[in-house]
Amino acid sequence: MIELKDVTFAYPNGYIANENLNLVINNGERVAIIGQNGAGKTTAVKLMNRLNKPTTGDVIVDGNNTKERTTAQISAYVGYVFQNPDEQIFNSTVAMEVEYMLKYRKLDQKDIDRRRDRAVELTGIQDYLKMNPLDVPYSLRKFITIAVVLAMETPYIILDEPTAGQDLQGLKTLSNMMDALQDEGRSVITITHDMEFVADHFTRVVAMANKQIIADDTADNIFWNAEVIKEARIKEPQIGEIAKELGLKGNIIHRRDLVDALSHQKKAFIRGGSNEKE
Ligand SMILES: Nc1ncnc2c1ncn2[C@@H]1O[C@H](COP(=O)(O)OP(=O)(O)OP(=O)(O)O)[C@@H](O)[C@H]1O
Ligand SMILES: [Mg+2]
Repeated sequence: MIELKDVTFAYPNGYIANENLNLVINNGERVAIIGQNGAGKTTAVKLMNRLNKPTTGDVIVDGNNTKERTTAQISAYVGYVFQNPDEQIFNSTVAMEVEYMLKYRKLDQKDIDRRRDRAVELTGIQDYLKMNPLDVPYSLRKFITIAVVLAMETPYIILDEPTAGQDLQGLKTLSNMMDALQDEGRSVITITHDMEFVADHFTRVVAMANKQIIADDTADNIFWNAEVIKEARIKEPQIGEIAKELGLKGNIIHRRDLVDALSHQKKAFIRGGSNEKE
């Protein structure tokens, strides 16, 4: 379990980027973090792997207070994929990048091979292993950094905007990967501005605005909460927008539910029509 207990965080220049955060993420849970640019999302997740240490309050990772542990110790629990892959990449081939931390940790070669192959398969970067990561297109470079973190096999994985710049294939790879990780009981925390992706893949959503968590709820409740949408400047999923325009009830955000509601109405309409004729 990752716990943020009344956490406030100020950058060295004094700018307060997170205020009074309280949050519990359970082992194996999948959580989306959404909200306006500059809300403090990246700052908040960096608290979870100790890249940021709370100015006040506590962050507890599986019983370890991050204030009392090193970043290396916490990184055994929490893997963080940077928002900008170029801040993370430093090796001259993709294979070396994926293997670097495994070698640093002195794992045996068999274990390194197994972890690398699994991470490479889940992220679909098989064809790029011999290339310089910086020569790989941005969307795939992100998958290289994800593979690095997957290979660490941490119980918690944080993905900072993995959907940015991804085409349909990239989004499919991401969702398959998240399903595989969930099957393994690993927790995936994802920051994203892609609300269709959130609606399709997340039940629990944390919305942030102005340094704070303003809602922690199911995706359908969040996307049907006009105040949260406005405050966190969320572009709601189209299915929800259509359902609202049609005056449908039930916090619809999924295509299947919209189709069901409309076909239900159609059937009722036809029944009503045939009754009139009788
Ligand atoms: N190193 C830093 N020093 C001072 N201020 C910073 C630093 N890094 C970020 N900030 C500021 O903290 C605030 C929150 O930034 P953060 O990166 O956490 O936002 P975010 O929600 O991840 O935004 P985005 O959606 O654009 O990625 C912003 O106003 C940002 O300018
Ligand atoms: Mg960010």
